[in-house]
Amino acid sequence: MGRTLTFKIFRYNPTKDNDQPHIESYELEETPRLNIFTALNFIREQQAPDLMFDFVCRAGICGSCGMMINGRPTLGCRTLTSDLPTTIELFPMPFFKLLGDLSVDTGVWFRQLGEQLESWIHTDKEFDPTAEEERMDNATANKIYDAERCIECGCCLAGCATAQVNPDFLGAAGLNRIGRFLVDPRDKRNDNEWFELVSTDEGIFGCIGMMACDDVCPKDLPLLEIFAYIRRKMSGTLLKGKT
Ligand code: SF4
Ligand code: SF4
Ligand code: FES
Repeated sequence: MGRTLTFKIFRYNPTKDNDQPHIESYELEETPRLNIFTALNFIREQQAPDLMFDFVCRAGICGSCGMMINGRPTLGCRTLTSDLPTTIELFPMPFFKLLGDLSVDTGVWFRQLGEQLESWIHTDKEFDPTAEEERMDNATANKIYDAERCIECGCCLAGCATAQVNPDFLGAAGLNRIGRFLVDPRDKRNDNEWFELVSTDEGIFGCIGMMACDDVCPKDLPLLEIFAYIRRKMSGTLLKGKT
């Protein structure tokens, strides 16, 4: 016989008059291979029709199901209840705007991040769709590919102490984004431009380096390596004498 699970879920609808943040408990019989996505759907179908939470792909790809599961930011769709104790506490991720219950708005934050960091290749070269693709060495291409694996789930920001006290902090997701373009030889931003962008308290200098982000990143991005690369580049710019 399966276990009886108790879900303690944060409930609050900011658009509802007089609603107050509170915890509600729901019981559910555990079934084989039950994950948090399926469990929340059962709870919504059978016990709490107004429960708000986000899921799209159910496969760890879209990044929409980040939430705090027993205190740890992670993806609901990739978390099996069998890996958790019988009491499961679910909270929305901090740092992002709360939409209601377990649902937060990561999209607006990531869009603003893209604009702030100008997340596109900066080049004077005219794009010629008929030209042959330029070659890139494998090691560089792999580094770019690795950074591009970020699914923008926001778990790194929810687990980051600096982000909780500085809402403008770029977090691991932002630093990873910078690393992605910094390593790309097609991006012609110069050393000073990179320095201005990342060498601030909101950027690499605000990062305390305890790597909670690395522990919780569900895509296992090589964040440690990326941060070290950014630090090396910025130190190099300083040593050369920033102009
Ligand atoms: S190392 Fe720590 S401070 Fe820096 S981004 Fe990761 S969690 Fe935040
Ligand atoms: S770096 Fe990792 S934890 Fe952060 S948003 Fe990207 S995939 Fe999620
Ligand atoms: S639902 Fe897409 S990552 Fe979980």
